Amino acid sequence: MGLKPREWDILKAIDELGGSAEARAVAERAGIKLSTLMSDAVSLAQRGFLIVREERTRRAELTDEGLRYLREGLPERRLIKALEELGGEARPGDVKEKAGLSDKELAIALGWARKKRWALIERGSLKLLEAPESTPEEEALKLIASEQKDVGELVEKGLRDALLVLEKRGIIRIMEETRKLLELTEEGRRALQMPRPVEEVSQLTPELIISGRWRQVRFKRFNVEAPGKPVYPGRLHPVQEVIREIREIFLEMGFEEIRGPLVETAFWNCDALFTPQDHPAREMHDTFYLAEPTAGDLPGQELVMAVARTHEDGWRTGSTGWVYKWRPEEARKLVMRTHTTATTIRYLAEHPEPPVWVFSVDRVYRNERVDYKHLAEFHQIEGIVLDVGVGLRDLMGILAEFYKKLGFEKVRFWPSYFPYTEPSLQSTVYSPELGAWVELCGAGIFRPEVVRPLGVRHPVLAWGGGLERLVMLKLGVKDIRKLYRNELGWLRGLPICP
Ligand code: PHE
Repeated sequence: MGLKPREWDILKAIDELGGSAEARAVAERAGIKLSTLMSDAVSLAQRGFLIVREERTRRAELTDEGLRYLREGLPERRLIKALEELGGEARPGDVKEKAGLSDKELAIALGWARKKRWALIERGSLKLLEAPESTPEEEALKLIASEQKDVGELVEKGLRDALLVLEKRGIIRIMEETRKLLELTEEGRRALQMPRPVEEVSQLTPELIISGRWRQVRFKRFNVEAPGKPVYPGRLHPVQEVIREIREIFLEMGFEEIRGPLVETAFWNCDALFTPQDHPAREMHDTFYLAEPTAGDLPGQELVMAVARTHEDGWRTGSTGWVYKWRPEEARKLVMRTHTTATTIRYLAEHPEPPVWVFSVDRVYRNERVDYKHLAEFHQIEGIVLDVGVGLRDLMGILAEFYKKLGFEKVRFWPSYFPYTEPSLQSTVYSPELGAWVELCGAGIFRPEVVRPLGVRHPVLAWGGGLERLVMLKLGVKDIRKLYRNELGWLRGLPICP
């Protein structure tokens, strides 16, 4: 990688300082902050332009006391000087006064003067022996004060013991320091033979324009292939996405959407669909009955009578009926609708004249144990066609077209049974992913026992089936519960356009 202008400046500064220099000096020379220099130096070293060497050094530093002694002299020196001026012999009190020493300083001065044999006390008076002009301690003090602080160098000058004494007396402090030395490599030297690189900028700023500096800089090229940061914008839940897709398909095919209540009377959920009142599907284990309130209103007398008679003896439908005593209390019971056929039949009762092409995608409830295949609350897709002269072929055609639009090319129909249709079919689609046929919708033509009481005089094609299974097929999900667990990672990872 090439050099940035600032990096080139750093190499240049080291070069001008003799090819190797302390970081602080380099930063000063290059006119940049030490912290900036150090981070650049790491990168330059990684790329082989320079070597960063760490050097541990010890530095002597004067303490406050040391600074004072530097000005005034060591107490013992002051003592000797005063003693000299007093003629070489005097009482300690007089020397103290002459030298301007405090009590404490006098004690120190006497201690050292005697220890160094510069003076002694005899019969209460202080006598001068002999004192050198200067001592190694005093020399070291001066050197340190004149910025010659490197302990190694001072030791070389024979001042080792002096330093120890000064440190012990609290006159100096020894500080550990790591200095960073920057040293140019061959590669670094070679880089300096090239002209200073032109500054590269990635953003044109007002500052660049106003100052005219834009003329000097080079603009960085955009890498349009660099991967972007993933963004997770709000989106519909996959089940809602499939519902929308289904809606669109039905609308394209000329259907209108209808909706109906989630809480239904058993009348619409079962009786109107010619499902006998003792049908096993009505048992508690399959249908949720409402605890409060328990019963709802039945529709008009005429319709209820027609349904009742149809169940009991077939009424005018040509059927024998189920041959039992139909009870209105049973029909009044409120349930959570178990299928959306409750909604289409309700609609049919209000719209008995053709053409009726309607669909519904909505919630239904069943008292199921929840497992990987079952939920107690799920969705059904439902549709009916009431039209003049329609028949089984139309039903199969409409379903095949619907599935095709959903992406399933292969469809098969099986004979089946529902209490409300004749003939009845089960439709299956082929899933290439699973390599298997999957049941989707039950279908059929409503029996006369269903449509005649409603006053419908033309054939009604009907079909309905689970939505979740379809979503699972589309998304490759094996456990139905996954659809509603709202695992954020999974939801985010789903393709927007499967
Ligand atoms: N209601 C049926 C079910 O829940 C499906 C169906 C609807 C069958 C319409 C025939 C006609 O499985």
